[in-house]
Amino acid sequence: MRQVNIALLGLGTVGQGVVKILQNNKNQWTKKCGCSIEIKKILVRDTKKQREVIVPEGTLTSDWQEIIQDPEIDIVVELMGGIEPAFSYIMEAINHGKHIVTANKDLMAEHGGELYGACKQAGTDLYFEASVAGGIPIIGPLKQSLAGNNIKQVMGILNGTTNYILTRMSQDGTGYQEALKQAQDLGYAEADPTADVEGLDAARKTAILASLSFHTRVQFKDVYVEGITKITTADLQYAKELGYVIKLLGITREENKQIEARVHPVLVPHSHPLSTVNDSFNAVFVLGDAVGETMFFGRGAGQFPTASSVVGDIVEVVNNIRTDCTGRLSCTCYEHKEIKHISDVRCMYYLRFRVVDRPGVLASIAGVFGNHGVSLASVVQKNIKDGAELVVITHQVLEKDVQDALQEIEKLPITKEINNLIRVAEV
Ligand code: NAP
Ligand code: HSE
Repeated sequence: MRQVNIALLGLGTVGQGVVKILQNNKNQWTKKCGCSIEIKKILVRDTKKQREVIVPEGTLTSDWQEIIQDPEIDIVVELMGGIEPAFSYIMEAINHGKHIVTANKDLMAEHGGELYGACKQAGTDLYFEASVAGGIPIIGPLKQSLAGNNIKQVMGILNGTTNYILTRMSQDGTGYQEALKQAQDLGYAEADPTADVEGLDAARKTAILASLSFHTRVQFKDVYVEGITKITTADLQYAKELGYVIKLLGITREENKQIEARVHPVLVPHSHPLSTVNDSFNAVFVLGDAVGETMFFGRGAGQFPTASSVVGDIVEVVNNIRTDCTGRLSCTCYEHKEIKHISDVRCMYYLRFRVVDRPGVLASIAGVFGNHGVSLASVVQKNIKDGAELVVITHQVLEKDVQDALQEIEKLPITKEINNLIRVAEV
């Protein structure tokens, strides 16, 4: 019976979850993968820090050389986060013939291609299920179970913090700052929540999903990003009245060999399954030409959900080692496809303006839209203090045409303010 030795890089939230799962189910591993799994070393910054888990004396180290120079360590499980030193350590580990499991979306979204290239040379494994949507299995399904499909579109609620904030604002009228504070207190948000609320976290996950779905390398920098900071309770209220909820979605689709990869708030109709995904839950909605519509739902963050994915990957690599077939799931980015600029995307739009309240205003605005080929599906006007508020939903139009029309409308003497532009999902 073989023993597979692993080293963890990081013993924070996720690292401790992995230790707990491996310790609690110790007797299962030999049955599940025909090998025992031993945590030989754990790299941390501070070996004296008080932790939730107890590990055998000598396991903790702050010296990377103790891990990289140990030929008995088969798998390096990176749970530190960030780009450096995680990237350098992983590259070095691969070059020493070690297999990699990581939960690091920043790294996969920026350096996925280089990591896969190094693994190919070394014949080693690279697994990263926890890097997108925490505990939800989605990387494995896209790489294996759905391999028979040409994927048409992937849309996901990929960030728990922003979904929590939007749910609270929409369902209870909680203000943005209060909802953010609650998300921080509940441990969903990052210490600096900018990456959550500005959509950067979701954009990294979208880049990974796009690369897997469309077999072309899509990086974080390729993803168009808008966060949720401009969404107001007024927008959420109008959305509700019009039959929608507002969600921050990561969207990636292919059309004519061009890839769309974008993260922004979206009005999702009540009839769409993503509209029912609330609080800190995540969900990924995949459209394939063979399978049709499928949705993967669950916890996108947190200690045990994320560790669940990490341990699943460890078991997969251990099975590969035992059966001598490591390196079998290599990079599937075998094509080059252009990334579509946001101005070339076609969408429906929700637009909210504050205007003066006098005859002819609606006609002026409709005229500008008409001149730019923007066709309107519905218009709502409400009287407010000092004027009127107009909410317009367009038919499907080119983003560039909407933006050009808005520039012109902004200059009209009747326009007081353009409050918001939110894209609308079609069913
Ligand atoms: P965390 O709680 O901040 O833990 C990070 C760990 O890495 C700590 O143990 C820290 O050591 C260690 N570390 C950081 N920099 C190091 C360095 N330069 N040298 C040695 N050790 C270092 O992070 P986490 O929440 O567990 O996240 C880990 C990874 O999982 C990240 O890539 C994150 O994006 C990903 N992820 C997290 C979640 C989640 O819910 N938390 C969900 C999905 C994915 P000390 O303890 O000594 O400071
Ligand atoms: N802060 C992230 C979220 C954690 O809210 O989803 C997982 O990446």
